[in-house]
Amino acid sequence: MPYAHITGWGMAVPEKVLTNADLEKMVETSDAWIRERTGIRERRIAGPDEYPSVLGARAALKALEVARLHPKDVDLIICATSSPEHLFPATACLIQDAIGASKAGAFDLLAACSGFIYAVHMAAQAIRSGAIQNALVIGAETLSRITNWKDRNTCILFGDGAGAFVLQASDRPGGVLAAVMHSDGSGGNLLILPAGGSRLPASIETVTNGHHYIYMDGREVFRFATRVLAQSTLEVLEKAGLRLEDVRWIIPHQANYRIIEAAARALKLPMERFIINLDRYGNTSTASIPIATCEAVEKGLLKAGDKVVFNGFGAGLTWGALVAEWSGPLPSATRPIHVERYRPLARLRSWLRRSIRRLEGLIWGRKA
Ligand code: UT7
Repeated sequence: MPYAHITGWGMAVPEKVLTNADLEKMVETSDAWIRERTGIRERRIAGPDEYPSVLGARAALKALEVARLHPKDVDLIICATSSPEHLFPATACLIQDAIGASKAGAFDLLAACSGFIYAVHMAAQAIRSGAIQNALVIGAETLSRITNWKDRNTCILFGDGAGAFVLQASDRPGGVLAAVMHSDGSGGNLLILPAGGSRLPASIETVTNGHHYIYMDGREVFRFATRVLAQSTLEVLEKAGLRLEDVRWIIPHQANYRIIEAAARALKLPMERFIINLDRYGNTSTASIPIATCEAVEKGLLKAGDKVVFNGFGAGLTWGALVAEWSGPLPSATRPIHVERYRPLARLRSWLRRSIRRLEGLIWGRKA
């Protein structure tokens, strides 16, 4: 049975920064309150042309470049997102087209902020079963478009961004070692987006009466999160036959510093063992774990051979954890690839396909 290794990683965040001071001008809040209650100092906000697929494609290309893989080598794309552009087509399909992954199947996975863990687990299982060789897993969000900027309970929390992993089959032991997934739909009303996607016209406000914004019972979600983060970590380690001492890093969903602190206390681990960057990005839902991972690799913290636990929780309610032995690019990946060069080619291919489809439509229309 092949092993599923994480061989590439990439992230993309919008340039625009929204600080706590900026939020003070928008709702009744203060920098001190936000920092004290959440740990967040600033977050990124998507520009007018930035959607989950745009940020997701950027992150995906970077991940492919690290793995030294061509977009056309990808068999499967899973995009975990809580703010898809549309219900369909899937954001994963838009990314597939944007990067020119012409041989890949693509679908979205909706498990809210736990989505990235679920998606990595699904991709790893597809590799372990022998069904596929190479997978791209992406977490991509423009939560700013489904945030009610008048609601101080939620608008201080969220940010936009994307992160991606490449997973590849190899006979070498390591990679994804175990994962656990849980859900409790009875808490569905605690964190909910009643209507719509993230690419709606501004006029939608009058149609949905504000139901296309995130609603959250923060206190209840907080309680739930502090309970499940430590629990799922211990559960996944037991499943992998590992002890907490074997783990070098914990990379949690970046929602609130106090939630991570509570998990650290429950696990009796120092905060230094947790990778945390929520102060600069806020809660980017499915993107928070891969973004934190990318920064940890860039800083030289996460090294090949390190055992790392990823754990998350979110709307659904859902929660889960995954333990992996960090791999780095496979030794066989020797081709130096600059995948950014494939973007104009992908655009040309996409335009050609659309034109051919239109032409075929015309011809068949006339014949019928
Ligand atoms: O990915 C999963 C998504 N969600 C989460 O992870 C969120 C989980 N929950 C949380 O992180 C926290 O519950 C929050 C940060 C949302 C809120 O922190 P809290 O310590 O649970 O505050 P609270 O809801 O108990 O509110 C305390 C007070 C309230 O005032 P009263 O009723 O005590 O007078 C709120 O109205 O703080 C008030 N408040 C604010 N004050 C200033 C709520 N939001 C703000 C704000 N600025 N932005």
